Amino acid sequence: MIVVGGSSSRDLAKDLAKLLGCIYIQAATMRFPDGECYTRIDSDKLDDDIVIVQNTYPDTNMIEMFLLQDAVKKMGAKSISLVIPYFGYARQDRTFKPGEPESAKVMAKHLSMDCDRVITIDIHKETVLDHFTCPHRDLKAAAVIADYFKGRGIDLVLAPDIGAAGRAKDVGDRMGVAYDHLEKTRLSGSDVRITPAKMDCKGKRVLIVDDMISTGGTIIAATQALKDAGAISVAVACTHGVFVNNALERLTGSSLDTVLCCNTLENEISHISVAETIADALKEKW
Ligand code: R5P
Repeated sequence: MIVVGGSSSRDLAKDLAKLLGCIYIQAATMRFPDGECYTRIDSDKLDDDIVIVQNTYPDTNMIEMFLLQDAVKKMGAKSISLVIPYFGYARQDRTFKPGEPESAKVMAKHLSMDCDRVITIDIHKETVLDHFTCPHRDLKAAAVIADYFKGRGIDLVLAPDIGAAGRAKDVGDRMGVAYDHLEKTRLSGSDVRITPAKMDCKGKRVLIVDDMISTGGTIIAATQALKDAGAISVAVACTHGVFVNNALERLTGSSLDTVLCCNTLENEISHISVAETIADALKEKW
């Protein structure tokens, strides 16, 4: 097995290769003056099982993934596994209004062209993976998040909305602490309303878990609701720290005590690693 790291996921790909005890090759990706992507894998041949680690967000990374798939195929890859730590477009998983495309399906269809199996982590909607024409698995970050926070005095694990309630249960059960969820209404792309917390938060140290933080609107509103209900500290752990615009600054400047994310998107607070979770899945025959 050989791991090829795309430009979005260098550290994660390197860690993965180390855990698998296999060769790591960093794709040399550059931009032409007009912005088009150029990539090259500096190796004579790749007649092995190849694992490409690369996000499909933002769009430029999706293009790089397509090019890497073609490059490894041309170099003789015996099989191509795609590890897509953060799968972009998963939130447009259906046509919400007439005339819209099914964006997630389009991406999966095109990625399927040169691909034998796909791994994603906490994809926004698992049904998106059914559009891949090859075997696929969505791995969960709940175990590594629970391991990180175990023994750090958390009293309650909360999801910011019902959609993330299963994740809060998974993390809470693994940590051996209570879990619950808040009620969220989305008002716009960046604004949400969180109904005042009904559970007993007084004097508690709360951990909020979610699949992603994008604008930060959800977490800022949830933190405020929990502090209003008497929580003494609020930490948040998400799988994907997308942090659009100045979301990370807004979060660190809010009443939130701790914010952390997994290394599916690499940034200054992506301290929870999913490398071992991915390595374990790649070692299995499937
Ligand atoms: C929603 O279904 C997701 O799980 C996240 O809660 C949401 O995408 C976070 O977005 P934002 O940070 O913009 O509120």
